[in-house]
Amino acid sequence: MEVFEVIAKRHSYRGPYLDRNIPREDLRLIVQAGIQAPSGTNAQTTEFVIVDDAELVAQIAALHPTNTAMRQAKAYIACLIDLRPEAVYEGYSFQVEDCAAAAENMLLAITALGYATVWVDGWLRIKSNGKKIGEMLGIPQNKLVRIILPLGVPAEHWAQREKKQFEQRAWYNRYQTG
Ligand SMILES: Cc1cc2nc3c(=O)[nH]c(=O)nc-3n(C[C@H](O)[C@H](O)[C@H](O)COP(=O)(O)O)c2cc1C
Repeated sequence: MEVFEVIAKRHSYRGPYLDRNIPREDLRLIVQAGIQAPSGTNAQTTEFVIVDDAELVAQIAALHPTNTAMRQAKAYIACLIDLRPEAVYEGYSFQVEDCAAAAENMLLAITALGYATVWVDGWLRIKSNGKKIGEMLGIPQNKLVRIILPLGVPAEHWAQREKKQFEQRAWYNRYQTG
């Protein structure tokens, strides 16, 4: 798929998955896309745990009450940040931005390979869900699962949600109001 086609097709998917496992070769391709994302000072702070063990998959699936994709995922990619990040530029660290850039690259790779996912982040922050998943995956205390991506072959067709028009969000040279 051409890159602009992939961008246009990328959408959040919270529906059911087909009963089809994801080969490690594809999981690796997806995470490699995350690894290749830009990061502040090229510090490459985001780490990834790819979950494809059936027992662990079932444990994570059981945590989400409503999101069908989270409940039926064949695999997950957990993206980790450091809770006590080292400053890499003028006292700043960019762990969250690094993680977001990696996640978006992976969303595009997932779309290009014909899988579907949703960026799950908000849910990890409530009811200690991120902490619980971190414990299941043996993640050290100083790291946090900041984003998790459920993965599978979609059983339904979903589309990207409507986006505001270019003119409502972007301008050449000067910000415009009204
Ligand atoms: C920072 C961030 C956090 C998100 N957290 C969640 C989440 O916890 N659960 C969820 O179902 N979707 C989550 N999403 C997905 C958004 O709801 C989704 O991207 C948005 O509704 C637009 O739809 P689209 O992805 O199909 O364009 C998150 C997206 C981002 C970028």
